[in-house]
Amino acid sequence: MGKIYVVGIGPGDIEMMTVRARNVLNTCDVIAGYKTYIELIREHFPDAGFYENGMKGERERCEKCVELAKAGKSVALICSGDAGVYGMASPLLEVAVAQGFSDIEIVPGVTAALSGGAVLGAPLAHDFCVISLSDLLTPWELIEKRLGFAAKADLCIAIYNPASHTRKDYLKRACEILMKELSPERACGWVRNIGRDGCSAGVCTLKELADIDADMFTTAFVGNSQTKIADGKLVTPRGYLI
Ligand SMILES: C[S@@+](CC[C@H](N)C(=O)[O-])C[C@H]1O[C@@H](n2cnc3c(N)ncnc32)[C@H](O)[C@@H]1O
Repeated sequence: MGKIYVVGIGPGDIEMMTVRARNVLNTCDVIAGYKTYIELIREHFPDAGFYENGMKGERERCEKCVELAKAGKSVALICSGDAGVYGMASPLLEVAVAQGFSDIEIVPGVTAALSGGAVLGAPLAHDFCVISLSDLLTPWELIEKRLGFAAKADLCIAIYNPASHTRKDYLKRACEILMKELSPERACGWVRNIGRDGCSAGVCTLKELADIDADMFTTAFVGNSQTKIADGKLVTPRGYLI
């Protein structure tokens, strides 16, 4: 029997991959993943075999990993950022458990909330939550409810999946829900393509965040009631300087 590693590769730049993740990818027989992520790392692991497929191929990808591991291969299933945060660790575990395979290691990575937060300054220095706007697997009503409660709880919010080709106005809709509770002047920010070519970022108000041109490679940030924009950086105070 082989082994399956589910590896968070970080946002994209090889320097932002953990040493553990890099060692696993250097030594496994096969690296499996969504084709865009395989393209990000392929040049750094020339000796590996690859299995790649496209969006909506998640179940098939997991089944292939179990099949390869049962045939004696060591397999690394990669995902961007962290393997557990909207990543492949959960579906892989579900598939593997159902097929009686248990030699699995989850290798964590730097999730977009953390790498994007570092680009903007220190927006997540106090209590925060992460909310995805993708309603492919989660009903939109539940996403709205979570946004509303996060605003009421004065949490900083990292917003994943703010838009896609078919969900262009979701970030605007989310900001409108948040503005029922929060001032339109609330300090916010966004980062696109963290650790990849064409990385861009900005700080803005909540009202302005509603109109940014977000895509599926953008992560948005909403500050709490204390968050401020200081010298172009988004900063949530911890309270030491009061
Ligand atoms: C399916 S989730 C995967 C999250 C990933 N597992 C992580 O921990 O970062 C996809 C969303 O993550 C965020 N994301 C992932 N990588 C990013 C990057 N390099 N730059 C900006 N946002 C990113 C975006 O909000 C994107 O829509």
